[in-house]
Amino acid sequence: MLVNNQPYRTIWPHPSQPAITQIIDQRLLPHEFVVVDLQSVDDFARAIKDMYVRGAGLIGATAGFAMYTAALQSRDDHFDGDIVCYGKQLVATRPTATNLRWAVERQLAALAEIAHIDDKRQVAFTLACTIADEDAQFCKQIGEHGLEIIRQISEAKGGVGVNILTHCNAGWLAFVDYGSATAPIYAAQAAGIDVHVWVDETRPWLQGARLTAWELDQQGVDYTLIADNTGGHLMQHGMVDLVITGTDRTTYTGDVANKIGTYLKALAAHDNGVPFYVALPSSTFDWQMIDGVAQIPIEQRDADEVNLVSGLGSDGQIHTVSVPLAGTPAANYGFDVTPARLVTGLITERGITPASKEGVLSLFPEKKVLTEGI
Ligand code: MRU
Repeated sequence: MLVNNQPYRTIWPHPSQPAITQIIDQRLLPHEFVVVDLQSVDDFARAIKDMYVRGAGLIGATAGFAMYTAALQSRDDHFDGDIVCYGKQLVATRPTATNLRWAVERQLAALAEIAHIDDKRQVAFTLACTIADEDAQFCKQIGEHGLEIIRQISEAKGGVGVNILTHCNAGWLAFVDYGSATAPIYAAQAAGIDVHVWVDETRPWLQGARLTAWELDQQGVDYTLIADNTGGHLMQHGMVDLVITGTDRTTYTGDVANKIGTYLKALAAHDNGVPFYVALPSSTFDWQMIDGVAQIPIEQRDADEVNLVSGLGSDGQIHTVSVPLAGTPAANYGFDVTPARLVTGLITERGITPASKEGVLSLFPEKKVLTEGI
């Protein structure tokens, strides 16, 4: 997507030194646009854990390139043991995001098929690029399917603007390109449909205020930033036609883990008859879990993310201030789980399905084998 009218992806191999991977440091957006080089597994692990990169698809793509770096770092005579250890180091960085484990396991499975070390390294690079390309392609397809939902609402409203609420950032910054929740919005914009987005600011990390608002602004989409508590009021007053969020892990039975606060939006949507859709590539499904509330591990992060706020001061510098008294105890749960019964539908690269085991497996019948015996 566009940054100052230049097309960008969120991750790419360095143009002349493929052993280096380049990313955008999302901690600094929207005030600074800085590209960072990742050259070691430790660099990658830090970038994922400290959220230089974040969001389901991008975490997966970063893990794909991290495993290529792990293949370069693994010793020729201890390759298999080394690469498994690096994989474990990466998987431990963010527990809720299932794309992380998915990408690491995909790399390990591919490398296990190859005999020679140099070939393994080449395969790891090719697969990292494939994972990134697939992520972008699947998001594009999600956009095409989700567009039909927006088109129907627009037609039902006689062409009057469609108001879409989103939480966190499930935009192109959370993937390699296009985004999941935002892809249908960009497709609607391209189709000439009048759309307006309510952007939840998404405390405490403020992905909505810092990232979604910025990326919609860059693409020229009409949006309004709102405090997290505003959505229910807007829904009660008919000011939201549709909610679309992303997800960090969705059970094949349709329970959705997403950024903390998503569940409350789903409850408000349910109470007000507002359709609540979740957009995801198939890499975000967990084919082993049936009960998201009981089984999905919820990441807890540093209390400082709740207590401290950073922003641009009138002196043009970034300042960080403490909102409560220093040392205030704070809990920082990163995600919550929205039960399938509150989800109107899942928008995937293969189409839209009800959030149910039957619906999901009818779109992805080849995954049935993974769910047997669970
Ligand atoms: O903690 P984050 O910023 O990685 O969490 C991101 C979200 O919760 C997004 O909504 C999400 O990843 C779903 S779509 C990528």
